[in-house]
Amino acid sequence: MKKNQFGFLSAMLILAIGLTTFLVNSCKHEGIPAEQMPQICFTGQVLPIFQNSCATTGCHSAGGDGHGYDFSNYASIMKAITPGDASKSKAYKAITSTFQLMPPDNALPIEKRIIIRLWIEQGANETTCGTDGVVTGGTKSGTSYACYERDIQPILLSGCAISGCHDATTHKEGLDFSSYAKTLTTISKGNPAGSKLYKAITASPSSEDFMPPKPYSALSKTAIDSIYNWIKRGGLNEECASVCDTTGTIKYSSHIKSIIDLACVSCHGENSPSGGINLLTAANLQTVAKSGKLLGAIKRKTGYSAMPPAYALSTCELRQIELWMNQGYN
Ligand code: HEC
Repeated sequence: MKKNQFGFLSAMLILAIGLTTFLVNSCKHEGIPAEQMPQICFTGQVLPIFQNSCATTGCHSAGGDGHGYDFSNYASIMKAITPGDASKSKAYKAITSTFQLMPPDNALPIEKRIIIRLWIEQGANETTCGTDGVVTGGTKSGTSYACYERDIQPILLSGCAISGCHDATTHKEGLDFSSYAKTLTTISKGNPAGSKLYKAITASPSSEDFMPPKPYSALSKTAIDSIYNWIKRGGLNEECASVCDTTGTIKYSSHIKSIIDLACVSCHGENSPSGGINLLTAANLQTVAKSGKLLGAIKRKTGYSAMPPAYALSTCELRQIELWMNQGYN
């Protein structure tokens, strides 16, 4: 063997060993076992990732020139999936590839890759999720899920990351719930009972550990359950499709109450409500709406205090509230 040939071969060998070590290590981080996780919801959790990151115009959209791949719907996504085995699924190989990464030069965050892997390993069913977060259509149907951005962040921003409490400036007791990264330091992934956040919201209401403290309202059972489910599932930074719907009649009981409960009652509840405004009942909300203050505040118009203070309601939620008013406060 010529000397330079030997040099080339040993260089390739070193490269191969290096690459294998890298691949093995890079897989380790994503090792949450699928069987320990509740059912992943295709329509709410998986589809939005494919739609927003792969099925964009000019890429793998319906009728697009995406080398025959279309990630805009379940049937066509399944052409790139081997149910039960992520490592054999073209879609998963592409998003974890070190050679031809997809999306090109723009790796999906680890949380999204985990969601896709778990979904494939759970059988890649077309599972759907109801407004209550209960998943149907898979082997583990009936389990609940909660997504950070949609279900958890609003609770934390309106109930905990309040100015003077656990916001980025004050961070009382060293706790700051204003961002995902900071919130993570208050939980033990997979273990709600061992998480500061969960312990505080489920402490005895008479104890001084109980959060949120008066005059703020205690979190609703739905909010506490969402936080439990979120921590239990690993405290991932997931986005979920919004189930917000503006068709048909918008009713207080089925559409509006849940928005107000999540975003407002922490401050506008029964204990000395902020600004003297109690938003616990349909009648109270109607009074504030008729005064013009509701839309002024939630649409963050000048002359009104922007509500909720820490973030804006989604366009769809604003639209629902407006429709509820226009349709006669049912
Ligand atoms: C973190 C606490 C907090 C949250 C959450 C919150 N508010 Fe307020 N809100 C206040 C305080 C404090 C005031 C009174 C002082 C002020 O106007 O800034 C107020 C005032 C208001 C006013 C009167 C505004 C004005 O300009 O006269 C309205 C209306 C209102 N809130 C509606 C809401 C609605 C609707 C939500 C949920 C979508 C909400 N608030 C969430 C703390 C909060």
